[in-house]
Amino acid sequence: MEEESIKMQQIFRMKGGQGEESYAKNSKIQGAYLSSTVPVLVQAALDFCDNPLPGCVNIADLGCSSGPNTLFAVTELTNIFYRTSWQLGRSQPEFSVFLNDLPGNDFNTVFKSLPAFQEKMRAENGPDFGPCYISGVPGSFYGRLFPSNSLHFVHSGSSLHWLSQVPPELNNTSNPLMNKGKVFISKTSPPAVIEAYQAQFQRDFCSFLEARSKEVVPGGRMVLMFKGRRVDDPAPDESCLLWDYLGQAFQDLVSQGLIEEKKLDTYNTPYYEPYTEEIKDEVERQGSFDLDCILPIILPWDGCNGGIKCTRETTARNTGKAMKAVNGSMIKSHFGEDILDPLFQRFMEIMAADTKKVEHVSLVVSLVRK
Ligand SMILES: C[S@@+](CC[C@H](N)C(=O)[O-])C[C@H]1O[C@@H](n2cnc3c(N)ncnc32)[C@H](O)[C@@H]1O
Repeated sequence: MEEESIKMQQIFRMKGGQGEESYAKNSKIQGAYLSSTVPVLVQAALDFCDNPLPGCVNIADLGCSSGPNTLFAVTELTNIFYRTSWQLGRSQPEFSVFLNDLPGNDFNTVFKSLPAFQEKMRAENGPDFGPCYISGVPGSFYGRLFPSNSLHFVHSGSSLHWLSQVPPELNNTSNPLMNKGKVFISKTSPPAVIEAYQAQFQRDFCSFLEARSKEVVPGGRMVLMFKGRRVDDPAPDESCLLWDYLGQAFQDLVSQGLIEEKKLDTYNTPYYEPYTEEIKDEVERQGSFDLDCILPIILPWDGCNGGIKCTRETTARNTGKAMKAVNGSMIKSHFGEDILDPLFQRFMEIMAADTKKVEHVSLVVSLVRK
């Protein structure tokens, strides 16, 4: 594994705990995406029930993080498997649930929430439910995480847009590709920068499929939801606008002398939003999975407000807090902790002063192991 990728695994984490700045309190938009994924998740689970279920259904959630979204898909899936078995008069399966994330994830908070989760599942489904054995699996989903032929259902929400590392061409210390004043692809990015991001996505997504192809049983299912593009254009507003606000906020901090320009030039986000066709191409090239469906999920520009109508200022504040909960660890590691508050304060001011209202787009991809 490349050194940069190991470094990323050590640094990258959502803000843990349950405080005001935590991911748990600032992940409403990811929660809204999960809710929109339900019809695809339900269909995939029902299709899996076309054949008799194994005695123990092994389910993995990859990139589980910590907070109200962590057990969302697991709840849906175990409910469907339990209820469908009951309706068909079949014996009830046991469940083995694997919650995966990078080693720095706040697994402690997740584990503390498990007794209440188990209690809720028993209360809702009755004493015949389960048992449901839950464990944490720290490690990168770009490598092997589970024994061969061991998983029946894999879910991943809002995680696979995170690359294993910044594309190496942008990190090359002697002659790096420059994406001046930006921290992600934007309309002004040189084509070589966009190509480097595309190539990193292809390598990573292929590694992901390769690892899962060994772990998922034939006929097993994967439902993957992550940020993506419904258009070929690599820099539409719906992919770039928030990153442009962040880039502008960084540049303002450079102007104020709070950070060095050189430091900003060497900061890039290990993130990519693939176009639907890029996903189809990788699935086909890797060859182990049939693509059942791939659909866009569109959320309104103020999706981070949890469905509540708010002023532009409040929406900007909520968006800034969500961006900080997700990106804070990487920014802190590169620039130091002191810039986090002024940076995201500036982000919120820039977004509040703008007038654009750009939709958020994710893709949900349903796959069957051949
Ligand atoms: C935005 S959060 C999504 C969390 C949750 N699934 C949800 O829907 O709210 C993305 C998660 O993916 C995890 N992640 C990113 N890259 C990963 C990798 N290579 N392996 C495992 N987890 C990863 C991050 O640590 C983070 O917890």
